[in-house]
Amino acid sequence: MSENIYHDSAIKHITGESVYIDDMLVNEQLLLGKVYFSRHAHAKIKKLNIKKALKVKGVHAILTAKDIPGENQMGPIVHDEQCLAEKEVTFIGQAIALIAAENAEAIFEAEKLIEIEYEVLESVLDIETAIAKNQLIAPPRKIERGSPDEAMKSSPHVFKGELRTNGQEHWYLETQTALAMPGEGKEMMIHASSQNPTETQAIVAEVLGLQKNEVEVEVKRMGGGFGGKETQGNHVAAWAALLANATKRPVKIHLFRDDDQIMTGKRHRYLSKYEIGFNEKGQILAYKVEFNADAGSSTDLSMSILERAMLHADNAYFLPNVRIIGNAWKTNLPSNTAYRGFGGPQGIAVIENAIDKIARFLKKDPTEVRLQNFYNQEPNIYTPYGQKIENNHLFKMYDKLIVSSEYFKRRKEIEIFNKENEFSKRGIALTPVKFGISFTTSFLNQAGALVNIYTDGTVLVNHGGTEMGQGLHTKMLQVASSELGVTPDRVKVSATNTSKVPNTSPTAASSGSDINGMAVKNAIDIIKSRLLDVVIPELDKLNSTTETSKENVVFEKNFIYDKELPGKKIAFDDIVKLAHFKQVSLSSTGYYRTPGIYFDREKGQGIPFFYFSYGMSVSEVEIDTLTGQHKLLRTDIIHDVGDSINPGIDKGQIEGGFVQGMGWVTTEELKWDKKGNLITHSPDTYKIPTVNDIPKIFKVEILNDVPNPGTIRRSKAVGEPPFMLAFSVWLAIKDAISAVGNHHFEPDFSLPATYEVILLEAEKIKKNKKQVSAGILVSKQ
Ligand code: MTE
Ligand code: HPA
Ligand code: MOS
Repeated sequence: MSENIYHDSAIKHITGESVYIDDMLVNEQLLLGKVYFSRHAHAKIKKLNIKKALKVKGVHAILTAKDIPGENQMGPIVHDEQCLAEKEVTFIGQAIALIAAENAEAIFEAEKLIEIEYEVLESVLDIETAIAKNQLIAPPRKIERGSPDEAMKSSPHVFKGELRTNGQEHWYLETQTALAMPGEGKEMMIHASSQNPTETQAIVAEVLGLQKNEVEVEVKRMGGGFGGKETQGNHVAAWAALLANATKRPVKIHLFRDDDQIMTGKRHRYLSKYEIGFNEKGQILAYKVEFNADAGSSTDLSMSILERAMLHADNAYFLPNVRIIGNAWKTNLPSNTAYRGFGGPQGIAVIENAIDKIARFLKKDPTEVRLQNFYNQEPNIYTPYGQKIENNHLFKMYDKLIVSSEYFKRRKEIEIFNKENEFSKRGIALTPVKFGISFTTSFLNQAGALVNIYTDGTVLVNHGGTEMGQGLHTKMLQVASSELGVTPDRVKVSATNTSKVPNTSPTAASSGSDINGMAVKNAIDIIKSRLLDVVIPELDKLNSTTETSKENVVFEKNFIYDKELPGKKIAFDDIVKLAHFKQVSLSSTGYYRTPGIYFDREKGQGIPFFYFSYGMSVSEVEIDTLTGQHKLLRTDIIHDVGDSINPGIDKGQIEGGFVQGMGWVTTEELKWDKKGNLITHSPDTYKIPTVNDIPKIFKVEILNDVPNPGTIRRSKAVGEPPFMLAFSVWLAIKDAISAVGNHHFEPDFSLPATYEVILLEAEKIKKNKKQVSAGILVSKQ
């Protein structure tokens, strides 16, 4: 049974009791660390002199590449990322030197005294230039089915187009932070803000030249990760570890907000080119798409992210003939990285925009065209990579949402509103999401746990997942509580620690509760089976007539009983004490691997996902055609989370994911100057959503009665899929802009649809409208 228990940290966050790394009490030995970084996008380092800086009072160490005892590298998959730049810098924000000092003043003083000379080299700052220079970061990828070329030729209608989707800054509330504490001998303990403690451990060991067993990484919680700490939380940890190792004192690095925005990678911007063939009904007959990702200066996760974009090129739609090409290009910007959706949003944006165009061309409601193309029944239930779509909830959601959102009624009201208002226009859109759950890198789909029961009957759960605000620890606490039959107050989830659960996968791909939940259950199943040997003789003592069989034993609410004799209960605590007395172990590890999934990258075929999560949303916006401002009037969402483990947390994820997606599609804009400096590197120039931006009416419904077979408590992953529900806002804005020209013109559209974009497009259409009435321009199509 699902339960709405509070998020583990709800009260602690509000009262300020939650301990983040920056709040940790260390000791008077603590030094502050700072990263001295490149001011050029591409340059040779001709001279680097730290002598004067080292003399500043309070400075304990300044390290450069030559001071790294191990390997100078921190690339997570491909070793193409230096920990400290040696001879050349390849982006603005790249670490060159590290300073450890007793206080901030000393650091700033030292920073000013570092002498550096660069020889500036030519830099590549956009995808087009990278393409022109053929700067592929890895070989292109392809997924193909049917005969896209022939089907395109024989399609009654064909559109060709391009779509730009911009990047996105993670804006986790806690910037990248790490605290490194040297121990005995070579030991190094790291308190990390990392979604991937195991990889943090590996990278720290590598740069220090240590064995993994000498490095311990602990993650209590992150103040948000959103993918930005899947690999790039490793960096600060490696830097802090180097300083701690050099000074033999604890060192903390906590990036300033602006530095974090300048130095770290973001969601990849994409330049996507597509061609889509369709018939009079709006059915897609052929689709060709080429994704071009701006990888930044190194590989990081770009290829996995590109793969997920390709695997989501279809979104919820059956594409009979399809070719999907993926390229990732090297530029002189910070290496772009994971961000909620992990390429899914970039892949889905293209087809959603294309479908919208089809509808406008055919003068149909885009919703109808979407419905036409949903995966439906054999043979139209195979994805381009060959995975069969099972337990498809799209139609159920569509039927419900069309009614609950009063879509068609509001569509009519909007038409009237738009006729009556010259300077305000409204628009509405419905968009679906189908999101594949599992790491596409199949081996990552494994997890471990360690469950300890203490002799007072309390339980400590350790698992491989990290808490970043998504409520994973709370869900794991609930899983342990219900599997073990003890009340939640008896259970605690510990900080994530590489010494307790080793060799873990990152907490990512929304799979945290799926895989760690199963590992926790596995550990508990093992302990329970041991306890049964203790329990059964005790139950038999209470029951003089029959013998209790294992299958009949129930663990529930701190008691254990035979389900045929529910009146005769034994306290869980008593059994635990007895078990210890009888020399039965009360602790076990647990393990899980997701069964049956694989993906052949060469062929572009396989079953990469254990299942799909579905969602659907309707948004209505109003734009002001004189200022370009938009207001989000109402959003209705239906989302599928299987049997929710915690509906309150899931609803929070749905709302939060949607709002974060809304930021990406509307106001969040990354801009660089001609030298590669990020111009929008602070909260006053980079606009994330605030409470004022959420929909005025916001209705979120969890789809009922859809248990998910084969997952922990029949639940579904929820972390990322709702992000993509925000396309309804983006396309509602497009609909409103299109209303400026009475839907006779297709707005030129990109993402985000900022106020500026809205204003310029509305202006353009106004001009076109005038030209049409003067008889010059008829139609763009
Ligand atoms: N929710 C909060 N509050 N903070 C976060 O950093 N990250 C998201 C999502 N929801 C995030 C979040 C991302 S990118 C992922 S992959 C998942 O949570 C990871 O956690 P899960 O696997 O436990 O869902
Ligand atoms: N999602 C997030 N992280 C990943 C994935 C994924 O699908 N594959 C590899 N790392
Ligand atoms: Mo989430 S982008 O998979 O960390």
